[in-house]
This record gives sequence, C-alpha cells and structure tokens, in this order.
Amino acid sequence: MMQTRTQVGIVGAGPAGLMLGHLLHLRGIDSFIIENRSEEHVVERVRAGVLEQSTVDLMHEVGLGGRLAAHGMRHEGLYLAFGGARHRIPMAELTGGRAITIYGQNEVVRDLIAARTGTGRPLRFEVEEAGVRDLASLTPSIRFRSGGRLHEVACDFIAGCDGSHGICRPSMPADRVHVYERTYPFAWLGVLVDAAPSSDELVYSLHDRGFALFSMRSPHVTRLYLQCEPDEDIARWPDDRIWAELTTRLQTSDGWAPRAGPITQKSITRMRSVVVEPMDHGRLFLAGDAAHIVPPTGAKGLNLAMADVWRLARALEAFYRSGDETLLREYSGRALQRAWRAQRFSWWMTSALHRAAADNDFDYRRQLADLEYLVSSRAAMTSLAENYVGTPME
Ligand code: FAD
Ligand code: DHB
Repeated sequence: MMQTRTQVGIVGAGPAGLMLGHLLHLRGIDSFIIENRSEEHVVERVRAGVLEQSTVDLMHEVGLGGRLAAHGMRHEGLYLAFGGARHRIPMAELTGGRAITIYGQNEVVRDLIAARTGTGRPLRFEVEEAGVRDLASLTPSIRFRSGGRLHEVACDFIAGCDGSHGICRPSMPADRVHVYERTYPFAWLGVLVDAAPSSDELVYSLHDRGFALFSMRSPHVTRLYLQCEPDEDIARWPDDRIWAELTTRLQTSDGWAPRAGPITQKSITRMRSVVVEPMDHGRLFLAGDAAHIVPPTGAKGLNLAMADVWRLARALEAFYRSGDETLLREYSGRALQRAWRAQRFSWWMTSALHRAAADNDFDYRRQLADLEYLVSSRAAMTSLAENYVGTPME
C-alpha cells in the first residue's frame, strides 16, 4: 500500500472540494483531493448556472475572477411570468446593488482545476473504492485504489465534499445523524440550445400546464427547463414536443417567447430537499450537496456549497494558526442555519411556481393571487430579491 500524509483529506472534486482545496492552499494548508469520476466528466456535466453575489465576490477574492469578469453575465433583475404577462423584479435596486451572475458551474470547476494544477498539490481523478476511516480519532484516513494500487492518506481532518451520492455521509454513525427529507412530485427536463437568448434576464413562469424557466449560458447559448413527471422517460420528449411545451408555458402576450435552435443536450433532474444534521462527526466535516440538497428553483445549491467551504476553511485556518477549535465546533450549527434558510426559500419558490398533480383549480388561483401580490408589493419583491441574490457569507 502507498502511504502519504496531508493536513486535510478532501473527498470529491466538485465545486465544494475544489474551492476548499484552493482556500486552504491560500492559507498555506496542505490538502489531498480525490475524485471518482474523470476530469472531463467533472468539467463537462451540465449543472448550475446562477452565482450569487457572494459567490462572485469569493471567486474574485481568491484570485479566480478573471474569466468570470470577462464571460460572466451580470443580471440586475429577473422576470416572473404568469397569466400571460412578464413582471420584472429589479433585484439590484431592491438590495442596494446586489445581483446574480450567469457563469456555468462547468466554468467555475474549470477555473478551480486550473488553479489546483498550478499549485502542484495532489488532485486524483478516477480513484476507485474510496473509503474513510477512524473519523472519531485525531488521525482519520482516506483509502482508495488508483492506477491498480491501494493508497492510504493519513489526515488531520477529512472534508466530505462528495455530493449527494458520496461515501462520507454514510460513514457517519446512523444513530448520530438525522436526515430531514422531502421529495417533490415532479422533475425538471433541462435543455441546452444553440440560440442567442431572447431575453437579457431569466424568466420563471407559472403556467396552467406547469412550471418553465428561461435561462442562458452565454450570448449564444440558451438554457431552458420545464416541469415534468418525476419518473419521466426522456425518450417521450422529442425536440418538437419540448419546443411546443416550452413555447406554450413561456410565451407572453407582449409577443415574447424563447428563441428556438438546435438542442445540444437534454436531461431530467428529480427534485428533493435534504438536510443532514449535524454536518460533522469527529474529524469529518461535510460540505455542499453531501450535507444538503435543495430543489433547483431558487438556484442555491452551488452557492450553499461555496458558503460551507468558505466557513470550513476559516475554521481550519484558526485551528492551524493557534490550535483554537471554536470555529470548527461552530461550523455545523452555522452552516445549517444558512442551509435551512436556503431550504425555506427554495421550497417556497418551488411551491409558488409548480403545479402538483394533487392540486386543484383553487390551488392554481391561489398561486396566481400570491404572485400578483408579490409583483404589486415592494416589500414582497424585496424579500424575493434579497433571498435570490443571497446574503453575504457571514
Ligand atoms: P458535487 O458537484 O456533486 O460534487 C461532488 C463530487 O464528489 C462529484 O464530482 C462526485 O463525482 C464526487 N464523488 C462522489 N462520490 C465519490 C467517491 N466515493 N469518491 C470520490 N469522489 C466522489 N445550484 C446553484 O447554486 N444554482 C443553480 O442555478 C443550480 N442549478 C442546477 C441545475 C441542475 C440541473 C442541477 C442538477 C443542479 C443545480 N444546482 C444549482 C445545484 C448544484 O449543481 C450543486 O449544488 C453543486 O454541484 C454542489 O457542489 P458539490 O461540490 O457539493 O457537489
Ligand atoms: C439555472 C438553474 C436554476 O436552477 C435556476 O433556478 C436558474 C437558472 C440555470 O441552469 O441557468
């Protein structure tokens, strides 16, 4: 067995694991990152696109704001569409200048991998049989197989950044963990389209036939989602059916509709809310989707992952600087406070904008009345705006 040592062993090279590795590097703390998928897969998978203000600020603070500044698309408002009309929420105006930026998770991950590679610190893709051991001791370790050989990395701490299907959370003793969970009776069918976005800002739509969302990735690429059945078979959605449904649900009476073009990618995402409490056990700390999953409607998942690792890096820095474990002990409670706030908002946006099979006409009219109130009240719009653009990390 090959044996090595590091300060922080990181399982998972998604946004959480990679950003944690970078934050620790900037503080002179060593880490070893392992990832079970290939580098190409991690970079290419199509996921989040909305960065909160604090995530954008963090990318700049850690010296990775160059491509984001050049290619990110800053949005100071968004549209809610219902009853055939679009209503703009002027987010920046309502929040003292905070905004969101459209910059694909692929690009964030690309920037973070380039930074990691530049440091020369270890980042191993395509590892197999990863496992974590001795979590309650002062000497936890990670084991994995790579290049046909077994490896063991002795660590001071382990960060479980391995997403919703990882191995870290299941390694915590079941009787010490409470998992809060809710599944939603629908999913999202998402498509990437080679077409210039026909709106400068996102459009979230509630229609009699269900939810739809207009977003984008670049001046040439449109990103669209529509609510579908939770067990939907993608084979039942040929391109012409997708366009008919998207157009019906999104078009407004002022003549606006998404611009069509070749669909280059299609996928279905089921929707869940999950919170794991606590987010630590001994010297294992969970971060990102490993600890909590939000339904995508509020665009919070990636941003919560970034907030977790910002907090964890600060706590580890305090430990290595002075041996003070206060921030490490406070990590789970503080991170959960933010996670629950994001859960509440994501649940609310999901409930406000989707139609469940069990809902009747009354529920739909109530949803419309809710949205009508929202767009007529500066207080209600401010509440939406401040949650959507996100609060500062602290
Ligand atoms: P992940 O990105 O899942 O990374 C975990 C990593 O761990 C993965 O690379 C995985 O391969 C690896 N791993 C798993 N098991 C092991 C193992 N045993 N050994 C080693 N490695 C392992 N969020 C937003 O903020 N805004 C949005 O607009 C948004 N839109 C979304 C749209 C869609 C369609 C989807 C699916 C998600 C969206 N999200 C959004 C959520 C966001 O993508 C996630 O919250 C984010 O990826 C979480 O990052 P993470 O690093 O915690 O987890
Ligand atoms: C995108 C994803 C979301 O979940 C969301 O709420 C808004 C935009 C996107 O992929 O662009």
